[in-house]
Amino acid sequence: MGKALDGVRILDFTHVQSGPTCTQLLAWFGADVIKVERAGAGDITREQLRDIPDADSLYFTMLNHNKRSVTIDTKNPEGKLVLEALIQKCDVLVENFAPGALDRMGFTWGRIQELNPKMIVASVKGFGPGPYEDCKVYENVAQCVGGSASTTGFDDGPPVVTGAQIGDSGTGLHLALGIVTALYQRTMTGRGQKVLAAMQDGVLNLCRVKLRDQQRLERTGVMKEYPQYPNGTFGEAVPRAGNASGGGQPGWILKCKGWEHDPNAYIYFITQAPVWVKICNVIGKEEWATDPEYATPTARLPRLKEIFAEIERWTMTKTKFEAMEILNKYDIPCGPILSMKEIAEDDSLRKTGTIVEVDHPVRGKYLTVGNPIKLSDSPTDVTRSPLLGEHTDEVMAELGYSREQIEALRTAGAI
Ligand code: COA
Repeated sequence: MGKALDGVRILDFTHVQSGPTCTQLLAWFGADVIKVERAGAGDITREQLRDIPDADSLYFTMLNHNKRSVTIDTKNPEGKLVLEALIQKCDVLVENFAPGALDRMGFTWGRIQELNPKMIVASVKGFGPGPYEDCKVYENVAQCVGGSASTTGFDDGPPVVTGAQIGDSGTGLHLALGIVTALYQRTMTGRGQKVLAAMQDGVLNLCRVKLRDQQRLERTGVMKEYPQYPNGTFGEAVPRAGNASGGGQPGWILKCKGWEHDPNAYIYFITQAPVWVKICNVIGKEEWATDPEYATPTARLPRLKEIFAEIERWTMTKTKFEAMEILNKYDIPCGPILSMKEIAEDDSLRKTGTIVEVDHPVRGKYLTVGNPIKLSDSPTDVTRSPLLGEHTDEVMAELGYSREQIEALRTAGAI
């Protein structure tokens, strides 16, 4: 079976996490992704957080599946010529260098258009145009400037960054959508264009509901589903909401059986209004179903702490999986807090290809996260990440270089 992006060639000039997540997705959809790296070093993540000496780190392998690797010194004049040949052959150039690095290399938007007017140039940057456009940015900085950190954590503690890589992988996802959209537009206009995904913008897009709440707060001075209500105080900005639900159905994380020794023996419990009577029955508080102090969502808002404490008395008598099984029977929305160990061992995730075991010639077998987006006509086969420069000769030959020319360029340090 063919793949959705068969025939699309990506010149992958990305490194670290944000850019590589984007090009990995495109590779999973069938694009030929040619990753350009510096000879001898490569993407810095090859050697970061290594768990096996001399083997590409999991950081690198888990972000660079299904790609080919070529080494080119793009600051070497002859290396630049090789890059020019690649620009002429590819459909999309994806990069996430520090601002200005591509221009300093000599590959301005104008120059790239001269070489290939159909080329789409897609970039991740920390910030969009404005006062911070020249700044380098990493994941947690993006979380801080995109509104996530100030709204994550508990009211009495400092801002907190989340483990979900919303700045890097989240922006990579945004960029991938921008690229396929630009490819689609090109089928009608015949022209390439620039695609920019700024990490601050990507994080803010994912924190959209908090900007919603900022405006609600400014208008009404209170947000009744936040834990600060009714006894705490609200300031000028959206406060940290602990584990409160981001939507209109109140939720909280509750202890389950075994919480004293298992840090993940918890469940997320949502008191969804349509199943309130069932919740009352399950936890043995049948009287709450008709008591006007508890029977409606509005009446419950000032009592959420007390209500969750009562539900927790019930969840603490069950393991998180037992609680989930019972609650699901009654359509009560909930979710166990799964550890990474539990996720890694989850059979159903392996069956769907969301967790995949991959074999690597140097490190052996390891687990990775497969393509989270499933297309019925374009299934994803996850293949291992390339060794540094593994495909240099192959790609150079496709560009028309002879064996002798390749050797000469290697001797000159251009590839
Ligand atoms: N041959 C020759 N030189 C190369 C090369 C190659 N194949 N590939 C990269 N380089 C050069 C670049 O041209 C640049 O040189 P310059 O500074 O002289 O212009 C240099 O390598 C370093 O690139 P840079 O992007 O500045 O790397 P860094 O390690 O200093 O910064 C980041 C890393 C991630 C902070 C930075 O790239 C960045 O802010 N990127 C945008 C935002 C982003 O994606 N952040 C998240 C990363 S997960």
